[in-house]
Amino acid sequence: MKDRIVVTIDGPAGSGKSTIAKLLQERDGFLHIDTGAVYRALGYITKGSPTKDGIKKIHFDIERKKGVELFYNGVNIETFIRTEECAKFASDAAKMDFVREFVNKTARQIAANGRYVIDGRDCGSVIFPDADLKIFLVADLYERAKRRAKEEKRNIDLIEREIKARDEQDKNRKIAPLVKPKGAFEIDTTYLNIEDVYQRIKKLIEGLDADKNS
Ligand code: C5P
Repeated sequence: MKDRIVVTIDGPAGSGKSTIAKLLQERDGFLHIDTGAVYRALGYITKGSPTKDGIKKIHFDIERKKGVELFYNGVNIETFIRTEECAKFASDAAKMDFVREFVNKTARQIAANGRYVIDGRDCGSVIFPDADLKIFLVADLYERAKRRAKEEKRNIDLIEREIKARDEQDKNRKIAPLVKPKGAFEIDTTYLNIEDVYQRIKKLIEGLDADKNS
């Protein structure tokens, strides 16, 4: 097994990125960095209107225990970021270059050595262009909305509209738009269950671990 592996998973909301990354963390000893969570936290803290000076004052404490956990003023960021309002703040903040620089720097610092799986929208295209393995997950909009509606227990039509709007914004922004990274393996998860997707990715990782030349 290699000491150093970087796996990136990119794709739109609800395509299964975080679920798979968490499985790789639980079962295979990877540490997971959820870059969307950092955008959400920055969006929440700045109410969707970050400024260059304001961002400089934000500091996250990082803990690596069961996984990578980020704390803001002593509070685990997970406790306040999982609302759709926060996702919208995140998507608005994510259009700004200084916000992206902050997140990219944070992710690269955390994953400086060891085995990491990093998920988001530009992890394989911008943050880690030399990643050992790049995955691009896609799924039909309705299926993605269905997954989120189940998780959040909210109206599916509303979620579908929200996700569609966020997809558009993420794909069409000028800086680091959501794209399939060069050299990425694309997996359409619409008709696959989580275990199938996990097994496909696990096979690719086993190939990396067995490869003596990389
Ligand atoms: O993945 P998640 O839905 O939590 O991400 C929230 C928002 O953060 C996305 O809609 C996107 O605008 C932004 N994001 C990004 N680049 C990443 C991760 C997330 O622009 N690498």
